[in-house]
Amino acid sequence: MRIRPPNRRIGILLSGRGSNFEAIAENVATRSLDAEIAIVISNVESAPGLARARERGLNGVFIPSQEKPREAFDWDVVSALNAHEVGLVVLAGFMRIFSPIMLQAYPNLILNIHPSLLPAFPGRDVQQQALDHGVKFSGCTVHIVNEQLDGGPIVMQATVPVMDSDTADTLAARILVQEHRIFSQAIDLILSGRCDLNGRKVRVTHGFP
Ligand code: GRF
Repeated sequence: MRIRPPNRRIGILLSGRGSNFEAIAENVATRSLDAEIAIVISNVESAPGLARARERGLNGVFIPSQEKPREAFDWDVVSALNAHEVGLVVLAGFMRIFSPIMLQAYPNLILNIHPSLLPAFPGRDVQQQALDHGVKFSGCTVHIVNEQLDGGPIVMQATVPVMDSDTADTLAARILVQEHRIFSQAIDLILSGRCDLNGRKVRVTHGFP
């Protein structure tokens, strides 16, 4: 099955720092990523990423999630995305799990980035998990979001070495460089309709490279 978003308008969801958002925004601004950031949504009002989106003149919207049923929050997000004709949803450090409402509104059209080589180390504090496990390589994964936490089909991965002297912070910084590099590439792959999805396998089959 070909994955083909209806347009190149992306909606970015974030909850924190927003360095992945900034890397994408920079690539859009310099036209190395052919996309339009239609809306940036945060469920955290004080998220630095939301402030940075507004500083860039982008449409930054706070949608509260606290004390709200998961479905109600998802409806609010889907309404905002629809109102801005978003074709692809990009999770850039978005710390919340979706209900089926969101997954059905954007089937195979939600991308997430995770700072490990999935399926190793899903969840949180994954750099520390990688160090504790003693792996020699770690990295990052861009995947399609499905109903499993960090379990959706893998679009792209990048590896980094793990040093004996690493702390969770130094490893995270090394991985982040790769996150900033591959997230925009994966977004472009999906936006340009070059990927097929068979089961959980994503293959670049159209117009490679
Ligand atoms: C990144 O490490 C990303 O992989 C994870 O959350 C972090 C977000 O960082 N999902 P930033 O807000 O993009 O700087």
